[in-house]
Amino acid sequence: MKIFLDTANVKELQEVAEMGLLDGVTTNPSLIAKEKRPFRDLVDEICRIVEGVVNLEVTATDVAGMVSEGRDLAKIAPNVVVKLPTTVEGVKACRILTREGIKTNLTLCFSPTQALLVAKAGATYVSPFLGRLDDIAHVGMDLIRTIRTIYDNYDFKTQILAASLRNPLHVVDAAVARADVVTLPFAVFQMLIKHPLTDIGLRRFLEDWQKAGLKL
Ligand code: E4P
Repeated sequence: MKIFLDTANVKELQEVAEMGLLDGVTTNPSLIAKEKRPFRDLVDEICRIVEGVVNLEVTATDVAGMVSEGRDLAKIAPNVVVKLPTTVEGVKACRILTREGIKTNLTLCFSPTQALLVAKAGATYVSPFLGRLDDIAHVGMDLIRTIRTIYDNYDFKTQILAASLRNPLHVVDAAVARADVVTLPFAVFQMLIKHPLTDIGLRRFLEDWQKAGLKL
């Protein structure tokens, strides 16, 4: 399973890249706006840090606008994936960009029927938003499981990118449900490695070692 970071913050990206665990990044207009930097300047820096895929989202909502923005975004770097909303217009733009060899990620997916159409349109990735479904008392993870079954039944190549993850359990469940990718806020990524028993155990080992006055 690939791990993307769901952020536009270069410090966060640098830290995970240094661990050698960064397969890619997802951004969206809200995450970009949070950084308060000119778009191109920020994105160029992100593309320098991230060796894997860099997801950049269009802001147009009509087909022509999305296609034009998508083409421009794809020119920024060879590893750019164009994020399009899962709307009628987004699906149309996806077909056009896909035919041009541009990789796409259909975002804001909340239903299996949306995911089916997205795959038929040739999207590279589909992004089901788990946390936002959980927020309205729907089991977000059921969506991943259903999409996995549909895609496997028909051998669709679109990759399932589990998005809007809020905690480590989401990551575990998405892995069990065979999502191809998870995208995580930095705080959730940090929680994946932390365990209190690891910290307590390490402290005890080192105390015992020091008390014994041993050397390696
Ligand atoms: C994915 O591409 C989105 O940027 C993201 O996962 C949205 O998550 P949120 O629901 O926490 O905003």
